[in-house]
Amino acid sequence: MVEKSHQQDQTRNTLSQKAKRAAQTGSIYLQMKHILGLSAGFHDASVTVINDSGDIVFAGHSERYSKIKNDPGVSPDLLQELCDYELDTIAFYERPWRHNYQQWRSGQREYGPWTVGGAIRQHLGHWYQDPAHETSFRHHLSHAAAGFQTSPFEEAAVVVIDAIGEMDTISIYHARYDDRGRARYKRVWGQRYPHSIGLFYSAITKAVGLKPMEEEYITMGMAAYGTDLGAAHLMYDVVADSEQVTFNRNLHIGFDSDDWKDVAGENLAAAAQSVTETLIMNVMRRARRLIDSDNLVYMGGVALNCVANSRLGQIYDKIWIMPNPGDAGSSLGAAALALGTRVNWRDAFLGHDIAGRYPVRPILDRLITDRIVGVASGRAEFGPRALGNRSLLADPRGADIKNRVNEIKRRQKFRPFAPVILEEYVNDYFEMPKNFSTSRYMQIVARVRNPELFPAITHADGTARVQTVPPGRSGIRKLLEQWYLLTGCPMLLNTSLNIRGEPMVNDRADADRFEHLYGIKVCS
Ligand SMILES: [Fe+2]
Repeated sequence: MVEKSHQQDQTRNTLSQKAKRAAQTGSIYLQMKHILGLSAGFHDASVTVINDSGDIVFAGHSERYSKIKNDPGVSPDLLQELCDYELDTIAFYERPWRHNYQQWRSGQREYGPWTVGGAIRQHLGHWYQDPAHETSFRHHLSHAAAGFQTSPFEEAAVVVIDAIGEMDTISIYHARYDDRGRARYKRVWGQRYPHSIGLFYSAITKAVGLKPMEEEYITMGMAAYGTDLGAAHLMYDVVADSEQVTFNRNLHIGFDSDDWKDVAGENLAAAAQSVTETLIMNVMRRARRLIDSDNLVYMGGVALNCVANSRLGQIYDKIWIMPNPGDAGSSLGAAALALGTRVNWRDAFLGHDIAGRYPVRPILDRLITDRIVGVASGRAEFGPRALGNRSLLADPRGADIKNRVNEIKRRQKFRPFAPVILEEYVNDYFEMPKNFSTSRYMQIVARVRNPELFPAITHADGTARVQTVPPGRSGIRKLLEQWYLLTGCPMLLNTSLNIRGEPMVNDRADADRFEHLYGIKVCS
């Protein structure tokens, strides 16, 4: 405790010293105005810093610092990353009083602060700097902005689907930039608690023995092992109106049905996945009818369901899902709303920096000798997927590699590993779904053309959650190019580098612990 408060004081001193130095020296960098976006208090807290040119200078998850999965609090170690920035505005991702109202209506009765300032002070604690501006935005609007203002579109239909945010569960916005380049949002349709696709999926997740609000992605993986023969019955059982997306009971309190007691978890998961996809597609068709646009921006925790995402191209020509569509990504959304204009999106490598060149040669050497290697280099990924900077990589060819990676990861059999591939070769190895020629953030699944050659990355239903890497200067791109030259294979197995039970590796110390625990080299 003493150590921590000493550390806190040091950080605060550093902040004020830097501000003074900036004023004395006229440093442009330190005088640049920065907006801090903050998402915290529910699950998976995060912060995002945007400068007044619209560049995302930092975005990180609290869990990567505290080592508590989906940590709702803001870790002091995460806040250390903010020392370099003079904060002009702090933007909170939802309206605190609306959140409290939601708590009251849903019977949870755990109230937080009622004001924006109170919420920000509570989450930042000793690190709170008195900024010129404090503000907050509606929960679903923060989701929408995190998507639209990072998208390449001038205008779009923005669909937000999550479990519950304030009282909203589904929102459809028409978003566009006005003559001054400011983002404008008009909400044209919505659905409210307790009618929620996200809460339905969480209730099923609990019913199949998994952890709700955390392990929905495992439910999705289980579904491939079951049959969806029960989908029509499940739809009849729980859904009141599939067009309006209303349910005939409050699934927030769980899914408890005698009809499903003796049904295998895999079959219930498959039925629920099918119902979920039907409901999502109904929402998308409604958005298409209401808004005359070929562009879809899709956000909210339900947008992490990559199996459902793969069908979106049946309705929309151009689709953007920001790679962190859940509540953690809303720190970016709140900051974007405070900025008001387009955010310059480059990639998802926005977190803690392990400085130095991407270690292409050492990784290749290990892949040739051991077939498995870790990498912790450059900036950590913002979002739930390891995209090459905090990854465990392996040679995807052959039957034995899946078991070897599983020895380290100890994952359920129904969870396949993902492939990462040079983008220009993706069609040789995968059948991409309609209107998805790329998949840079692992947000869709594609059919594997030769599953017998790559069993480690092929799921039970013959698909893979593919990541494509475009030409460019990223480390993972250089690595794949060299790997292809050496082996003729343009693809690697890519899974997140994490110690069992912990979030993804963040810094070099985490990487060292991983190396020590599992005896697998982690290159930096
Ligand atoms: Fe949300």
